[in-house]
Formats: sequence, C-alpha cells, structure tokens
Amino acid sequence: MSRGGSGGRQRVRTARGRTAQSTRWLERQLNDPYVRRAKAEGYRSRAAYKLLELDERFGLLRGAKRVVDLGIAPGGWSQVVRRRVPAAAVVGIDLLPVDPIDGVTIMQGDFMDDHAPGQLIEALGGAPDLVLSDMAANTVGHPQTDALRTMALVETAFAFAVDVLAPGGTFVAKVFAGGADSALVAQMKGAFTTVKHAKPPASRKGSVEWFVVAQGFKGRPQE
Ligand SMILES: C[S@@+](CC[C@H](N)C(=O)[O-])C[C@H]1O[C@@H](n2cnc3c(N)ncnc32)[C@H](O)[C@@H]1O
Repeated sequence: MSRGGSGGRQRVRTARGRTAQSTRWLERQLNDPYVRRAKAEGYRSRAAYKLLELDERFGLLRGAKRVVDLGIAPGGWSQVVRRRVPAAAVVGIDLLPVDPIDGVTIMQGDFMDDHAPGQLIEALGGAPDLVLSDMAANTVGHPQTDALRTMALVETAFAFAVDVLAPGGTFVAKVFAGGADSALVAQMKGAFTTVKHAKPPASRKGSVEWFVVAQGFKGRPQE
C-alpha cells in the first residue's frame, strides 16, 4: 500500500492473491470520507450515517421507545439509536455475531426463521414503534436472483412490521433497484399514512440501494 501524500488519496497496489475487485474495494474504503468519519466518531460502520441522514430528513427516531434492528451487524444503526434516544429499548438480529452494544439486546440467527419474530418481540417487551431493516442478502452475482432474495427479506420484514408495530409506528427498509416493487408499495400505502423512497447521501451513488420509509402505521383492523 502506498500513500499519495498526507491527507491525499490513498492508492492500493495490486498484491498477488488480491483480485482487482478487492483492490478496488480496499481503495474505496481507504478514501471514503464516511469510513473515516465513522472511525473518528466511534461508529462501527459507515452505514450509521445512512440512518442519521434518514433521521434528519424524516425524524424517525423522535420519541422512539421500542426499536427493532433487523440485520444489525456490525451495529452502526443500533449505536445511532442508542445515541439519539438513550431511553429506547433496542433489539437486533443478524446471521453474524455482533460485539455487545450497551443497552441493546442482540440475537444471532436468521430473521426468516419462524420463531425469530416472536423472540424479538419477547426480548423487546412490547410493541415496537420503529422497525428498521438494513438486511441485504449475500449477492450471488446473478442480478435477478439477488433482487428476488432481497425482495423476500423486505416482504418478510414488512409483514413483521404490520404484525407487531404500535399504531403511529414507522417502518424503514433497504430496497434495491430504485425501490420496493409496486405491489408491495401499494400494500405499504394501505397500512401507513406516508410511504417515501429515499437515497441518503451516505448511500454510495453507484449502488442500487435505496430505502423505503413508511410512517404513521394505521394499526391492524381490529385496533
Ligand atoms: C448492510 S448490513 C447491516 C449494517 C448495519 N445496519 C449497521 O449499521 O452496522 C446487512 C446485514 O443483514 C444481515 N442479514 C441478511 N440476511 C439476514 C437474515 N435472513 N437474518 C438476519 N440478518 C440478515 C447480514 O448478515 C448483514 O450483516
């Protein structure tokens, strides 16, 4: 690795065994202002800034009391929640292990498992007013397959949100390729007062990642 001068752009030499793709990834990480900021400000991931920016625009965390963080690893979003609303109860789940975060209950497992939703709510101790999903399926490089797998995660997260959210609650999910599909958006509009798509500045321009933000949960029909 060589430095291009103090504070300048860092370049990475292609080392034997490192693919051109991973060299590009490493170079991008080293030169990414959000990665540097995350390090300086003690966030575990640059993803933290996506939630901070979404919060600035939509006021997601204002008054939140119970929060579910789907796809919590390595923990940036939950750190943001803890810093912004220290009194909120927070529960997260991920396939990957996550180092402890003070005040956050972390479960390791697959959110798609039948028993995961019940365990999350039990750990939270009541209905959440905010369900966050930054889950992304591991890409296999086949665009249709990747899109379908991510859609399945979004749909399951949405079904969970309408099942458990307190009235007035908020659902945020990462979606790909410009947004949730139209059938899902229609369902969201039926269940929430407002549904918007957003690409926060911290989301890389070249990525197909967007977020759908649904606010004002209308409640389940019997409520
Ligand atoms: C982009 S990362 C989340 C970053 C996190 N928001 C942060 O700020 O640190 C997406 C995560 O979703 C997780 N994930 C994907 N599918 C999942 C599933 N079925 N159940 C639980 N977690 C899942 C992945 O393991 C990955 O850690």
